[in-house]
Amino acid sequence: MTRRHLLAAPAALAAGSLLPEGLLAAVAAQTPTLPDLADWNAVRAQFALDPGYLHFASFFIASHPAPVREALEGYRRAIDANPFLFVERAMFEDDAHNLPLQVCAEVADYLGGRGEDVCLTRSTTEGLALVYHGLPLQRGDEILTTVHDHYSHHESIRLATARAGASMRKATLFKQAREASVDEIVGNLEAAIRPQTKVVGVTWVHSSTGIRLPIREISAMLRNLPQAPLLVVDGVHGLGAADETIARMGADYFCAGTHKWMFGPRGTGIVWANAANWARLQPLVPNFTELESYTAWTEDRAPNSPGNAARMSPGGFHAFEHQWALATAFRMHRGMGRVRVASRIAALNTQLKTGMATLPKVRLHTPQSEALSAGLVAFEIEGVAPTDVVKQLLARRIIASTSPYAVSYARLAPSLVNTPEEVDEALRALRSIAG
Ligand SMILES: Cc1ncc(COP(=O)(O)O)c(C=O)c1O
Repeated sequence: MTRRHLLAAPAALAAGSLLPEGLLAAVAAQTPTLPDLADWNAVRAQFALDPGYLHFASFFIASHPAPVREALEGYRRAIDANPFLFVERAMFEDDAHNLPLQVCAEVADYLGGRGEDVCLTRSTTEGLALVYHGLPLQRGDEILTTVHDHYSHHESIRLATARAGASMRKATLFKQAREASVDEIVGNLEAAIRPQTKVVGVTWVHSSTGIRLPIREISAMLRNLPQAPLLVVDGVHGLGAADETIARMGADYFCAGTHKWMFGPRGTGIVWANAANWARLQPLVPNFTELESYTAWTEDRAPNSPGNAARMSPGGFHAFEHQWALATAFRMHRGMGRVRVASRIAALNTQLKTGMATLPKVRLHTPQSEALSAGLVAFEIEGVAPTDVVKQLLARRIIASTSPYAVSYARLAPSLVNTPEEVDEALRALRSIAG
């Protein structure tokens, strides 16, 4: 049984590639040469953003940079020209030509882990749902999360615990994000843990206040507890914004969309876990990538243990050109350099926060500390509702956003598409709105 048997039509079973020469050349061209990304203007030039605006909400959903657009368009053309031959080869032929495997290898290189431990998803939301529903929860088990997390995270836990007869609880990690310390965060989380707490779910960089949690310290604390709860991290606003070797950060399950800070194609995401943690999970959606699942089905038996990332990857035919072009987004980040990217984002955010601190009516909610923040700045202006702040900024052609939480703040998120001059312009606008 070869990978080719996996859902390929019988016509595809002949040995050797069925792909015509011309199409083979087209496939080779799908990996665009990266442009020179040595200076930030060159990086900014990769985006087709409307120059009539200052874009301070690009973390919301990525604008595809030129290399990603090219890869995506190349794959689209190849699929449109020859849907069966191209997709069959990329998905089901030998490992050397398997595009999902190549994407996983590229992602793993950035995360500092192994390609076989990367699961490709379509969003943070999908990754969180797969992990929480995959956990072997028993009646009476508890998942501890926090009051600070995103809707997608809380809902994934609520739905998974309801199915399993388990429960969920939310801890408060700090009184004020901007004054929080590592000790306060880790101490509050530890104090909230009970013997029945089997899993802890947190967010690395909060989209509510912009605080970045000390995941390494949280993980070290959890590992010292008798029941060593598993740690699930929603990492979407740290991946591609913070300098971290994610496979060694201490998360047991790291879930993130790659269509925000990573500039991956819209509708892409990843989950990373090590082999032992993948083996704990029960898949929710049939996969199209693991041969053992298919072989077991043809032999009318359950797949052999242990489970793995490929078995957890949701199958079905997808917008393949988007999934495959994700490799280019990771290559682009590697080309820019993780440390360099994180330093640029930190410098722009520090500039913004330092400027805000001089505006008496502006109340900052994000910590000043670069270690406890990343690329999001949450704030309020005295006497102006957050939605009105965003409207007034938009009237000045500055795109900001409000945080989608019960208590909502205005947010500006300086990123690689911005310049120090743009940050100054945003600060001038805030000064004038604050009056
Ligand atoms: C903290 C956090 N988690 C999850 C999500 C949802 O991300 P996705 O669209 O990748 O599911 C968001 C959305 O911005 C978010 O802010």
